[in-house]
Amino acid sequence: MTDADTTTTGADWGAWQKSWDRQQEWYMPDREERFRIMLDMVEALVGRTPRVLDLACGTGSITARLLARFPGATSTGVDLDPALLAIAEGTFGGDDRVTLVTADLKDPGWTAGLPYDSYDAVLTATALHWLHAEPLAALYGQIAELVRDGGVFLNADHMIDDTTPRINEAERAQRHARMEEARREGALDWAEWWRLAAADPVLAEPTARRFALYGEHAEGDTPPVAWHARVLREKGFGEVRPVWCSPSDTLLLALK
Ligand SMILES: C[S@@+](CC[C@H](N)C(=O)[O-])C[C@H]1O[C@@H](n2cnc3c(N)ncnc32)[C@H](O)[C@@H]1O
Repeated sequence: MTDADTTTTGADWGAWQKSWDRQQEWYMPDREERFRIMLDMVEALVGRTPRVLDLACGTGSITARLLARFPGATSTGVDLDPALLAIAEGTFGGDDRVTLVTADLKDPGWTAGLPYDSYDAVLTATALHWLHAEPLAALYGQIAELVRDGGVFLNADHMIDDTTPRINEAERAQRHARMEEARREGALDWAEWWRLAAADPVLAEPTARRFALYGEHAEGDTPPVAWHARVLREKGFGEVRPVWCSPSDTLLLALK
């Protein structure tokens, strides 16, 4: 369990989930699409009652969609952020299909806190670019050990092809122009969302702890798809390829 379960009750966790989703969609209007295909691939390869590890789960966005679609699934959510874990705990507390674990994925011993030593699927989104390439490669080795033979790892994240700088720049400029337009129409960005959390009576304390841990945002790397695929193969996955992509992001599927 997380230490998030010490927070008082009374917050509208559903409203926090929705506002987190809106804030993330401001960056990724196709966020829901990648979750849908992620769960399609889970169903195709490991079935409708998987044991899932929701890696860097945040508020539990993947877990919520997993359980809505596959009520017989179970999920372990792992994250370090006390405020996002408080929202996850408020949402899933009392649901015995869900276990939440506080851990730093850069800590080599982080898997010790997991309730299982093997998973059908490890799923993650918009998170591993917070890690630099070296710790990410080490994490991929640990994920390869956690996924059972025949199981899957799916990572939806920013993966930048550095051989196409002009395409990247044009795409980025367009994406940012659209984000500015949405902001003028009232969309909340990352900093504004965290200001609301800091002002909330229940989330203020875990939000302060969160900023002490991370600062505004951790700095990591966004290596290209080929890097991820090569490292995942080296670490023990048999087949690796994209199953969805946008101009900036990829959903990569690795089969053990
Ligand atoms: C942008 S959020 C995405 C959360 C969720 N997957 C989603 O799609 O809504 C990135 C998450 O990665 C988590 N994270 C980043 N680095 C981490 C680390 N070293 N250990 C554990 N969690 C980490 C953050 O705390 C945050 O919850």
